[in-house]
Parts: sequence; structure tokens; C-alpha cells
Amino acid sequence: MDNILVIGASGQLGSELTWALAQQFGAAHVIATDLKHLSKATLDFCRFELLDVMDKEALFTLVKKEGITQIYHLAAVLSAAGEKNPSAAWRLNMDSLLHVLELAKELPLEKVYWPSSIAVFGPNTPKINTPQFCVKEPNTVYGISKLAGEGWCNYYFEKYGVDVRSLRYPGLVGYKSLPGGGTTDYAVDIYHKAIHQEPFTCFLEENSYLPMMYMPDAVKATLDLMNAPREAVKIRSSYNLAGMSFSPKEIFESIKKQVPNFQITYRPDFRQGIADSWPDSIDDSRAKEDWGWSPAYTLDSMTKDMLSQLPAYFPPQG
Ligand code: SER
Repeated sequence: MDNILVIGASGQLGSELTWALAQQFGAAHVIATDLKHLSKATLDFCRFELLDVMDKEALFTLVKKEGITQIYHLAAVLSAAGEKNPSAAWRLNMDSLLHVLELAKELPLEKVYWPSSIAVFGPNTPKINTPQFCVKEPNTVYGISKLAGEGWCNYYFEKYGVDVRSLRYPGLVGYKSLPGGGTTDYAVDIYHKAIHQEPFTCFLEENSYLPMMYMPDAVKATLDLMNAPREAVKIRSSYNLAGMSFSPKEIFESIKKQVPNFQITYRPDFRQGIADSWPDSIDDSRAKEDWGWSPAYTLDSMTKDMLSQLPAYFPPQG
């Protein structure tokens, strides 16, 4: 019987992936953990425990006591927030992963999931259809930590047989929670302004392309990878993963089809430099070949779904 621990369960990905894991394994077999209980309503279907993943002893104790067999370690400081406090971001992103990998080796755990990101790529990376294997040289502390983390995942697999699996997510767009501290956050914020009939100020310029993905596709990719047979998972650093690519102008136009009086202005800030260092689009053919990945959503189908789901989760104030 599998028992699942989700670390960082209150976050943007965690709040949706935890639900899907509870569907698959049964709510009684999933424990959600985070530093704070941020989004109570979205996690009330399973057990929740406060856990600071930096506290190695607390992590080891909980995992042993509960007979955990799989960990989904989602906690991280994202790109924009990481630039404000690089050493804290490095410590959290690296130490927490090493705690989980050590635990997986020692027990051993059956499987570990750890997300990587398009942030592993940098200004010298080919920008269009970025290949799985190419120059990376990230220039954010978040990207550097994700690239180093990929190396550690591969190392623990090669040296100790730890079954750790990973995806390089594009920017994720979902309606259940707000993102925090990322460069791709604008693509979530814009829908919030649209449903509340407010104009949107974008922190990226209008033609700045980035790889993006709708949350149901991200959850499906994660479960597909984790449910694939061990031999099918041939890349143990992290898989390139693609859904769609768009610019702020294109997402604005997609929303305007549904909300004709919607307005946007562009006021790029330091996050523009981060976006410029990342790919426009991603080649995810290895994910397709190795474990059958295929995304379902386009920009317009995502927009329709976001605009219809969002008001129930974020009703107008007052
Ligand atoms: N969404 C992340 C960020 O913008 C990228 O993985 O930091």
C-alpha cells in the first residue's frame, strides 16, 4: 500500500496535485504538508501537517512514523522571489532536496517526485524548440538551484538506485490558487483582473514569449510520469515538457474574445530580464517517446476554462 507525502502542498502546484493524488491513492493515504496552512479550503480533503522541510529530523520522523512510501517535494523559492534573497533561496531549494534524497536512499522510499523548470535554461540556450540536451547556463539563483538539483537527482539514481523523477515545468496557469514569486505569474494575474473587470498592468513587454501550461495538463504529466514503469523513465535529471507558448499580447487577445472591454498596459520590470533569458518554446519529444506525454489544452481552451472556473475560487470582494 502506498502512502504519499506532499511537501509544499499549499502552493500553486501542490494545491492541485495533492487533490489528484488523493483521487488516485485514496485521501487516507495522502498527507499534505507545508510551512503554513495557507489554503485551508483547497486541502481539507486529506490530512494536513505543518512541516518545515529544512528540519531534517522532523521530516525523517514524520516519514518513518507514517510509513510513507513516496514523496512529492514541491517546496521552492521561485525565480523572481529568489533574486531578492539569493542565499536563502539557494539554501531552501538545495538543502530540502538533499534531505529528501538522503531519506529516499536510507529508508528506502519507493519513489520521489521533484519539479524542475524552464529556468534551468539561460541566455546562451537555443530559444526556439529548446532541446532536451543543450547549453543551459541559467542566470537566476532559482535556475542555478534547479539545474544543480537535476544533477543531484541523476546522481542519487545512478549511485544509489533512488527512483527519483522530474519534469521541467513551463509557467503554470491554474485557478485554484495564486502563484507566488515567479516570472510567469503574470499569466495567472491577468485572468484575475479580467474576471473582476479591472485593467491589467503587465510586468513583461507585449511580445515576450514564454512556454506555459494549463494546470490540468501539468497534473496529468506528473501522474503519467510517476505511474510509468521504472524502465520507461530514461532521463533521470529532468524531462523537457511543453504545453503552449504565448506572449502577453496573445493571452490578452485570447481573453478579449470573452471580455471585450478588457484593457492592458505594459510596464516591464526586472522580471523582463529573467523572461528574456528563458526559451520561447520547448522540444518535449523525449517525454512523448518515453512515457507517452501529450497535452490537451491550447491558449483559447485554457482561457475559456480559467474564466469560467476562477470566479468560484476568487469571488469579487465586498
Ligand atoms: N514559474 C516559474 C517562475 O516563473 C518558472 O518555473 O519562476
